[in-house]
This record gives sequence, C-alpha cells and structure tokens, in this order.
Amino acid sequence: MREPPGYRGTLAAEIVPTPQHRITEQVVSSFSDAPPRLREVMSALVEHLHRFVVDVRLTPGEWREAIALLTATGDITTEERQEFILWSDALGVSMLVDALEHELPQSATESTVLGPFFVPGSPVREYGANIASQPAGEPTWVSGRVLTTDGDPIAGAELDVWQNGANELYAVQDPGVPEDHLRARFTTRGDGTYGFIGVRPVPYRIPSDGPVGRMLQATGRHPWRPAHIHLIVRAPGYRTLTTHIFDSTSDHLDSDAVFAVKPSLLREFVRRSPDDPEAPPGIAGDWYSVENDLVLVAGTAEEPVDDGRTA
Ligand code: BEZ
Ligand code: FE
Repeated sequence: MREPPGYRGTLAAEIVPTPQHRITEQVVSSFSDAPPRLREVMSALVEHLHRFVVDVRLTPGEWREAIALLTATGDITTEERQEFILWSDALGVSMLVDALEHELPQSATESTVLGPFFVPGSPVREYGANIASQPAGEPTWVSGRVLTTDGDPIAGAELDVWQNGANELYAVQDPGVPEDHLRARFTTRGDGTYGFIGVRPVPYRIPSDGPVGRMLQATGRHPWRPAHIHLIVRAPGYRTLTTHIFDSTSDHLDSDAVFAVKPSLLREFVRRSPDDPEAPPGIAGDWYSVENDLVLVAGTAEEPVDDGRTA
C-alpha cells in the first residue's frame, strides 16, 4: 500500500496497522479540492494527528478526557480570557510561530510573546514620566534608544509599555488600581532616546485556575514567568517589534511557563542610591536603572493582534 504523505520510512510502515493507514489516506484525499494552502495545512494536520494517536495508542478514555479538556477550554474562554492562546503559550506553540515569522538579522532586537495582558490604547506620556499611578514597587528608570540595524536613531518611534507591580498583578487583573496604572505609550526623541519611570517587575504566575493550570499541575510543571517588562515598538517603515526586557537575576529564567525567554533580552537592573546624581526627578529612596536599546528591522509596521486577554 502507498504511504500517505508525511509518513516516512519503514517506521510508519511497521507501526501503522493497515486500517489506520487507509483512514489517514482517505481523510487526506478528502481535501483534494481545497485551495492549495488549506489542503497543505489540513493534510499535514490529519497526518500528524493520526500519527500521534497511533504513537501513543490513544485509548477511548483518554480521547474522552481530551474532548472534556477542549470543552472546558471553550467554556472558560470569554472576551476577557483566552484559554486557547494560553494552551498555545504553555505548549511552546506561540514561540514557535513567532520564531518562524521573525527570522531577523542578528543585530535586530528579538521578539517574544505578546501575552494576554496587553490592552490597546494606553495613555500617551512624556519623556521621563512615571507610569505608576500609585506606589507599586521599587522605582526603576528604564531608558535606551530605538535604532536601525545600521545603528542610526529612529526619531518618533512609539513605545507601548506595560508591566506588573510588586503585587504580581497587571492593571487589567487588579480591580484596586486605575486602568492606566503601569502602562503607557512614549515617543522617541530626535536622537531616538526614550526614558520612563516604572517599577522593578517581579515574577508572576500565568492564570492557572483553568484547564491549562490543570495540565501544569498534572505534569509537575510550575506556572511562573520570570520578571519582565513588555514593550511594543512601532515606527513607520519598520517591522513592529513585540518584546520583553527580562531581569537577568530573576527566578524562573530557565523554566518560563511559556518558553519566552531569549538570552539576548536579559538586562541588568542596577541598584542605585537616593543621592545618586542621576536620580530622576520624583524618585525618593533606593531606585534601579535598566538600559535597553531596541533595534528595528526595515519593513511594514503591522499591529500585533490583540489576542484577547486573561483578566
Ligand atoms: C505575559 O507575559 O503577560 C504572559 C504571556 C503568556 C501567557 C501569560 C502571560
Ligand atoms: Fe507579562
């Protein structure tokens, strides 16, 4: 019998009994009239899915559990919460799709996951502003330049930033804070520089009260993400960059629940004293500083999809 496309070598022939072999072939050929890309995607999906079922010898009980899990994922998903994307994040699919889409020159800043806590329409603030509407943790001066891959400054680029506070929460998760807390949009100055006061981010847990959380628990995985600040950088004529600044001393850098850490995104948060002459106005007591240049690649500025958030 002819092997269906996607089954390679003798291994498939050895382990795939004839009836399953035929089922796969039948389903794949049922897509023969589909548009080319859809046919390619659906055929590969069915081949891999069938191969998976055969490889693990999926039992009817396990099949029922899988259906229950998908049903629970749909049930918990609302406009505020996207459990399907959380699955994609927690299984590393989001980072894989991102890696395929962003094959960038080495000098460019690497991208990473958008995450569910991005809310479009953050307030526009001036250079040097404090993004915390109320005390939220250890003050941190975040600054740098937005540059081209040739090292030239990009003036007028927009930085959209959001982060959590010392209580682990993003504003969108915390009914006790104003909705514009710890989020803002800034525009780079003529020399490409930006600067704002945030707080030192802390590690936090991805939402784990749903099916993804049950998977993490059942498999002995933890839900923690290492401390980070989110940024989207937009500039006309450049590819929009969605990325993080990770605290290089944070816990969980080696076991991020969503596999989104890239070594090039680690930055040192430097402890500074209150009498440091560089202390930005409005900061009293100890503070931190972190420097982070962002390098954009020429291309089309596209908005990251607002994938739905998990409140
Ligand atoms: C976040 O960094 O905000 C995030 C990313 C993926 C899943 C959950 C949270
Ligand atoms: Fe985050």
